[in-house]
Amino acid sequence: METAEIARRFLSFFEKNGHTVVPSASLIAEDPTLLLVPAGMVPFKPFFLGQRTPPYATATSVQKCIRTKDIEEVGKTSRHATFFQMLGNFSFGSYFKEQAIPLAWELVTTPVEDGGFGIDPEKLWVTVYLDDDEAEQIWREKVGVRPERIQRMGMEENYWSMGVPGPCGPCSEIFYDRGPEFGSEGGPEADENRYIEIWNLVFMQYERGEGGDKTGFPILGDLPKKNIDTGLGLERLAAVLQGVDNIYETDIMGRVLHRAAELTGTRYGDKHEQDVMLRVVADHVRSAVMLVADGVKPGNEKAGYVLRRILRRSIRNLRLLSGDDAFLLHELTEVSIDAMKDIYPDLLDKADVVHGVIDTEERNFADTLRAGTALFGRAAERTRQAGGTTFSGSDAFQLHDTYGFPIDLTLEMADEQGLTVDEASFRELMQKQKDTAKADAKAKKLGNADISLYAQLLEGAGSTDFLGYSDAESESHVKGIVVGGVSAPAARAGEKVEIVLDRTPFYAESGGQLADTGTLTVDGRGVVDVEDVQKPIPGLFVHRGTVRSGEVVLDDVVHATIDTGRRHAIERSHSATHLIHSALRNALGPSAGQAGSENRPGQLRFDFTSDTALGGDRLAEVEEEVNTVLAGDIAVRTEEKSLEEALKMGALAMFGEKYGDRVRVVEMSDYSVELCGGTHVPSTARLGIVKLLGESSIGSGVRRVEAAVGVDAFKRLSKESALVGQLSEQLKTPREQLPERIDSMVSRLRAAEKEIEKLRAAQVLQAAESIAEGARRHGAALVVAASAPEGASGDDLRTLVLDVRGRLGEEEPVVVAMTAVPKDRPVVVIATNKAAQKAGIKAGDLVGVAARALGGGGGGKPDIAQGGGSDPSKVDEALRAVEARVAGA
Ligand code: ALA
Repeated sequence: METAEIARRFLSFFEKNGHTVVPSASLIAEDPTLLLVPAGMVPFKPFFLGQRTPPYATATSVQKCIRTKDIEEVGKTSRHATFFQMLGNFSFGSYFKEQAIPLAWELVTTPVEDGGFGIDPEKLWVTVYLDDDEAEQIWREKVGVRPERIQRMGMEENYWSMGVPGPCGPCSEIFYDRGPEFGSEGGPEADENRYIEIWNLVFMQYERGEGGDKTGFPILGDLPKKNIDTGLGLERLAAVLQGVDNIYETDIMGRVLHRAAELTGTRYGDKHEQDVMLRVVADHVRSAVMLVADGVKPGNEKAGYVLRRILRRSIRNLRLLSGDDAFLLHELTEVSIDAMKDIYPDLLDKADVVHGVIDTEERNFADTLRAGTALFGRAAERTRQAGGTTFSGSDAFQLHDTYGFPIDLTLEMADEQGLTVDEASFRELMQKQKDTAKADAKAKKLGNADISLYAQLLEGAGSTDFLGYSDAESESHVKGIVVGGVSAPAARAGEKVEIVLDRTPFYAESGGQLADTGTLTVDGRGVVDVEDVQKPIPGLFVHRGTVRSGEVVLDDVVHATIDTGRRHAIERSHSATHLIHSALRNALGPSAGQAGSENRPGQLRFDFTSDTALGGDRLAEVEEEVNTVLAGDIAVRTEEKSLEEALKMGALAMFGEKYGDRVRVVEMSDYSVELCGGTHVPSTARLGIVKLLGESSIGSGVRRVEAAVGVDAFKRLSKESALVGQLSEQLKTPREQLPERIDSMVSRLRAAEKEIEKLRAAQVLQAAESIAEGARRHGAALVVAASAPEGASGDDLRTLVLDVRGRLGEEEPVVVAMTAVPKDRPVVVIATNKAAQKAGIKAGDLVGVAARALGGGGGGKPDIAQGGGSDPSKVDEALRAVEARVAGA
């Protein structure tokens, strides 16, 4: 049964039983205790905790999940995946154990022709929690499971929580017996490889506290209601129903796996080590596709790091498999999207974005690998020369810091070479760097006070009165001072400080508009430079800055003055943003919603939702429209209205923003009407000109335009014009003929490069004759063991080896082994003729010998094989090792 069909049957079974079908939530968790969604119940957590009232009493879903805790197990076991789909049914205070257990059994054992999964009950076992007599009784009496098929297990196995404070409860699991060839008798407690867990039924009825992951946490009390949360692993069930040994061989991942084998010239099922790598690739490529489709981008922390790590592991495994550095991810991404599109049709719309992100990461990582691998090789060599087996923490840190080598990669590469890494000292160095960065950030942003402190300040001082819509200055009272994250009675010269006033002309950063800067002056006593203003909680303006001179004391009266030049420049950007928003909606339709913005002095960026790029022409149209409208000198009017009234007049509101009952509406005639709390120019002509600087994708379905406004826009235009003038002079070509001229130069250059490449390849081949003459007898075979001429690429090497083999004929056994060092990494290619293969001399084996000497690995077929390593100085040694092996054959 295909994976998509399994999912369909599951949902329709529970729908028939009164459940609401809920679509999968994004992999990016809304829950602040999580990075990514690890279980089907995550979107429902607030319902279990009683924090929100569920709109349905029972639900069912297929939820996309990511778990990377066991990433090292992927491919080695039959069932570990980083991305998987959890089928689940949920009850929020409706039914409990007595119904959840029989429902699960019914679906699993109902014959296929009647809509079930048709599993023979004789193959099933169940487990219950130690003291859960009730569950056992239901299994025995209501379902009819034989007592010897029910096992009791402890907290580790049969008590489920998210690993953090939240809902929890005892659980009961259904296992499938894969048969005696997979392990020993005795049920799930005896062998978890033979008896594979397929469905977990959690009786969610308690709330747990802090402490321990799976065991040893305190139970804080009962949840408001008794709930059901179940999770059935779609991939595992697919493996069972498709009769394959593991999840990687099922209809979906199997396609990527077999394509990866084809692309890398390996065969699945030949060698255990290779099989593991192919499975890792199949799993990881799919995970990467799903993560990128949900908007994750590779990065160095949080979800971005999870994605980067997964991608890099795929790339490395592919390279180890193929023995060269071809870029294979693009094609595997395509296969993966194609395999998943039946369940997630939106993948087709997102395919371009997914390819873009993955291709870029592959290219970047290739550079990282090239540079880092050489450094790694040298450090590993030093370690060995010193007689050690421990790769130093400082080398690992340098690899990380300078080349962006993730520690996992260093660990894996070290392991391949029989070295261990001093991880403790690596972590220490990382911590040190983090601490320094933190201290810097603290000094910069000062955003270190606890929210509760701000809440106290708000309670004491009341909401800050904002005067900045009309005033640039005010007399204000100091209502709160924070130094180093704690309340203080005063702050002195040189100190970083946060100040709360009763009223202020300073705009606090919000709605994309950056904060004002300026000064707070205490008559005759002191001056504070305000560098930033934030509202850490609604209503409270916190002025962050440095005491320039003297001191500021609680209850002081200060003269607050904003930098009006900066404010006006920011206002120009903000008003321009509104015009651009309207012009984009006119160009793309109302679906071009605002997804974020930033208004800085003279510059802005505006993010909007759109699945298609705005081509150069349409961008120019948008720009022209904006400039035409602004030149009409439209008055910018702001008005307070009720939210209802504002929406009725068609004001654009930001999705996901919280608005109060009274809202501010900013109007530029009827061209632009938006709900907005920011400040604006009095009339559009103040903007001068708006120059769009370009448009790009920043995530799935989200695009960004950037623009310069006013003098900044003028400066840019003038600089570009000067640049074109300079080019025109250098190329001795009139301005308007520059594109043509450059086109022709580029094509001539390309042709010349091609010619050089051809000549170089011919030169390399010319060497073939003299190389063939260097053949010497070793044992029963004629052996050529030589280095390729300087500059040979991996491809040249293959061609050369085949050419030399051809010259030596078929009369007697021939072995041609040659090395080259393209891009600092030694590569070896070995070919044998038929006579040699008949005599049992295989290229695949010989390459292993050579690659080991080079500090790496490789493999291939009996007639031709390729390998590589990290140590270019070992090339001769590798060739001699091949000769010795042939001599001994
Ligand atoms: N929430 C349960 C699990 O993830 C069903 O196993």
